[in-house]
Amino acid sequence: MVALSRNLLEPRWAAVIFWTMRSSHHLLSPACAVDCLEIGGPADLVLAVARSTGRTATEVEERLLRGARCLIARVGDDIASVCWLSRSPEWLQEINCVFHPPEGDLYIWDCLTRPLFRGRHLYPTLLAAAADRWCRDGGRGLWIATRWDNWRSARGITRARFRPVGMVIGARWLLMRRWWILGAPGAPAHLVRTLKQAIQAGPMHLSSSLDQWGGGPRSAWR
Ligand SMILES: CC(C)(COP(=O)(O)OP(=O)(O)OC[C@H]1O[C@@H](n2cnc3c(N)ncnc32)[C@H](O)[C@@H]1OP(=O)(O)O)[C@@H](O)C(=O)NCCC(=O)NCCS
Repeated sequence: MVALSRNLLEPRWAAVIFWTMRSSHHLLSPACAVDCLEIGGPADLVLAVARSTGRTATEVEERLLRGARCLIARVGDDIASVCWLSRSPEWLQEINCVFHPPEGDLYIWDCLTRPLFRGRHLYPTLLAAAADRWCRDGGRGLWIATRWDNWRSARGITRARFRPVGMVIGARWLLMRRWWILGAPGAPAHLVRTLKQAIQAGPMHLSSSLDQWGGGPRSAWR
């Protein structure tokens, strides 16, 4: 109870940057094999993804069942890097907003390169592979979001040729929540408008999840 009151009393804020890519480019490097895990995928791959990302097999299966796909970069037999892809709305815990991917667009979330494999540009390679597949399948654009201070992620996203669209700043004090959406310098006005339409209020949580607001650089996409 004490923790809850402190949580509610302290003003909290967080900010994420949204990026987009409207057309695919050639893959950056063939440094890894890229697989896609979908519903009904091999059980051992579900388990391997769960193990490499610190989740349970049930969590991975639940994501697949609600239509998300997982793109996997392998180095040898190891799963080195993963990202999740959705066409349906996803909740961003940091700002407690829901992102509704525009019609024909794909949202990339919960990306992770395992520490042993970081710094080899597997992440931008995976993002470029996602864009390549999506555009080949007739999809339009792709979106991704990073916490404003996650410079490593921003480097990878820029390398994969995504462009910043805007920053969403979420703030919460007591039961009041507000957010602001600022266009990135030079971002086309129609994309900033699209971002504004795509962001909607998330569920009002009074639980510990609000503790993440303004907390450490934790990736908490669901
Ligand atoms: C962000 C993340 C996905 C990047 O993955 P990656 O495969 O290492 O990506 P890159 O190799 O392109 O690294 C990105 C930048 O960080 C640098 N970097 C990565 N790991 C590093 C390390 N251990 N030491 C120093 N620099 C490092 C890279 O050199 C690169 O900069 P560069 O373009 O100037 O070379 C990875 O660090 C990660 O999983 N972080 C935790 C989860 C997270 O933040 N996910 C993103 C949520 S949107």
